[in-house]
Amino acid sequence: MCGIVGYVGKRECLPIILEGLKRLEYRGYDSAGVAVAQSGKLFFQKKAGKVSELEAALVLNRLPASTIGMGHSRWATHGEPNDTNAHPHSDCSGTIAVIHNGIIENFQTLKTKLQKDGHVFKSATDTEVLSHLIEEIMKNGNDLFTAVRLALKEVQGAYGLVVMSSKEPEKFVVAKLGSPLILGIGDGENMVASDAAAIIAHTRQVVYLNDGEVAEVSADAFKTTTLDQVEVTKEIKKIDFDLSQIERAGFDHFMLKEIHEQPETIRNAMRGRLQVEQGGVRLGGLEHVQAKLVNARRIIIIGCGTSWHAGLVGEYMLEQIAKIPTEVEYASEFRYRNPVVTSEDVVLLMSQSGETADTLAALKEAKAKGATVLGVVNVVGSTIARESMGGVYVHAGPEIGVASTKAFTSQLTVLALITLMIARAKGMSETDGKILAKELDALPDKVRKVLGNADQIQRLADEFKGSNNFLYLGRGANFPVALEGALKLKEISYIHAEGYPAAEMKHGPIALIDKNMPVVFVVPKDAIYEKVLSNVQEVRARKGRIIAIANEDDHEIEKLAEFVIRVPRTYGFFGPILNVVPLQLLSYYMAIARGTNVDQPRNLAKSVTVE
Ligand code: M6R
Repeated sequence: MCGIVGYVGKRECLPIILEGLKRLEYRGYDSAGVAVAQSGKLFFQKKAGKVSELEAALVLNRLPASTIGMGHSRWATHGEPNDTNAHPHSDCSGTIAVIHNGIIENFQTLKTKLQKDGHVFKSATDTEVLSHLIEEIMKNGNDLFTAVRLALKEVQGAYGLVVMSSKEPEKFVVAKLGSPLILGIGDGENMVASDAAAIIAHTRQVVYLNDGEVAEVSADAFKTTTLDQVEVTKEIKKIDFDLSQIERAGFDHFMLKEIHEQPETIRNAMRGRLQVEQGGVRLGGLEHVQAKLVNARRIIIIGCGTSWHAGLVGEYMLEQIAKIPTEVEYASEFRYRNPVVTSEDVVLLMSQSGETADTLAALKEAKAKGATVLGVVNVVGSTIARESMGGVYVHAGPEIGVASTKAFTSQLTVLALITLMIARAKGMSETDGKILAKELDALPDKVRKVLGNADQIQRLADEFKGSNNFLYLGRGANFPVALEGALKLKEISYIHAEGYPAAEMKHGPIALIDKNMPVVFVVPKDAIYEKVLSNVQEVRARKGRIIAIANEDDHEIEKLAEFVIRVPRTYGFFGPILNVVPLQLLSYYMAIARGTNVDQPRNLAKSVTVE
């Protein structure tokens, strides 16, 4: 989704801003722009397309050297992705520049009023209304900080906002409501960004702005207040990752790097938490709510996309092992259906980014209804992590590939840890706890083994690269794995794929099966193995092309499937952590075979910060 980066200090700002914009490219965008201030004037350059196209435009049309400026990468909502609609947006006089992530919901009302007052709009965006509104308020003699504050009082919607004025060219005014925004604190220089990746090369000291806060940022100082001018003291925090973690480290794509990081990231999710010898788990972020969790009337897991799939697997773990009734909801549905939630419910918000707008809104809804609200989040310091009453970081490290991979297996690992912690507290014996803990402890090595099949999976992708439809089938805890496999394929290779519970196939999708239809079965040797095998037979009888994800000791399946990818055995409910890995690799190699943009697939954003 849209990206923001701004710099004020002693150095030439443009190279820093362009570098920051490139580091934000993974978020997904369709145009980019910059503005700098020099000699009491603002200078702009905006371009549809990639940051490289903006750079090319800047070669032809050089902007003056400056030590204050800002850049934006836009993911279009209101108005098509063209040069005019790209940010920054200005006012009638050209003295104000605004970059904005989020949506101004009442922009049409504000625009109509401003047009009546004589303001002339150039773009079709909602954002431009902010520049004119600020201009209008500054006409009354207000300074930039006051004007932004007052303007935002008239605005409905969400924003991560940076504003510059040629009349006060030594500072930014920034504000946040519902869209992430951080300040990067340097020595005689400060930055502002929507994402730590944009500033990590320059500083690891950051200030997280909260919703409803507005800050004035100059080279040497920043001050923060609420929209009502109440001063807020902010703490400077240290980012816990470094530059190397957001670089490709010799891999062709971030997605491939992140798939291969999984033995390590799964280990990181368990480090210092899993107590193998005691058969238990310690989760510091949940200690103060452990009683709530153990005695919960039910657990509601909420997320979007891949995080929702992780929640579905969590449902199997929590109900079957910890014996707590569990429901899983799409955040976007939960937030608007006035759900029945009480103080005896525990709501687990699953989110890699910790910034997904729908998940954040669901969090607020559940909190308002009195539930205990906990986050299972990857990005440290993100809004969902901060707004939750407690939670667990999955510690997968920065995930740059738009298609989520390592965050998913880390989410599953954390859900397994939470499950084991509750189960032990509810009376599971130490012996049984140890069995599960040992299975968890063995997972990183088993994932490493699965990754050893990469060459075989690449050959498989070559075989199927011409297929335009795929069916993914699984049962029990592997049904969500089928959904996740299908989502990965859709996202990066643009192939139509459906995930289904294997037994549901005969209620409809079986009509699709013919000799051209690849069907991926997730069929580990678990309690329902024989049942899934019957579904495999049904597909075979109709000449579908069967690809099976099966255990190493399964010799039955090779008689039925055209291709078998082997995964080691593990405890049934932990199986998804292994079984999803070949599906991630399959989607990656299918995308490579079809020549699509793996790390920045069309239309997608890494973190969906608008509704
Ligand atoms: O950051 P979140 O986990 O909240 O994001 C949720 C979804 O937007 C995300 O999982 C999306 O589906 C990914 N592109 C999946 O690969």
